[in-house]
Amino acid sequence: MDNRDVETTPGRPLPPRAPAEVAQTSLLRFVLNGEPVIVASPAHWSLLEVLRYQLRLTGTKQGCDKGDCGACTVLLDGRPINSCLLLALEVEGRAVQTVEGLGVGGTPHALQRSFDRAGAAQCGFCTPGMLMSAEALLEGKRARGDTTIDTAEIAEALSGNLCRCTGYTKILSAVADAWRATS
Ligand code: FES
Ligand code: FES
Repeated sequence: MDNRDVETTPGRPLPPRAPAEVAQTSLLRFVLNGEPVIVASPAHWSLLEVLRYQLRLTGTKQGCDKGDCGACTVLLDGRPINSCLLLALEVEGRAVQTVEGLGVGGTPHALQRSFDRAGAAQCGFCTPGMLMSAEALLEGKRARGDTTIDTAEIAEALSGNLCRCTGYTKILSAVADAWRATS
């Protein structure tokens, strides 16, 4: 059984990688959630694999593992990317933000609070990716000096993030609420 299959089963412990899988490694240096990190990464691993299986940041989810669902969305230099599609070695010297880096000192981020208020998560599997795409949208708008937001632009920003539970209405509403709460 592949370790990734085991790890994504709720409640199961994280097993170590088999020795053969960690034999070919390269040192990778990047900034993760504002802190410099150095990690020995297998050369063929994706950023998602390094985040989850080496750095144990399991907030970023592994869904389709092929760029379809957006569950693995993180920010790379402020832009949302599918971490399952990016070789980890490509983030050398760059800045990565995961959902673990959204809140500060245990205080939830405005988006996390608005998702909670709106009931915008059911199983929650899509939520970290949704939050990161939404964060990129809101930060981009602030950087441009935008003063308004509309549902269409939120839907566009989240179009790469699939949710099988909520029907999206509450998610879109939560993002708009977070914008209003912080603008
Ligand atoms: S896990 Fe990366 S897009 Fe689905
Ligand atoms: S809340 Fe379940 S997939 Fe979105």
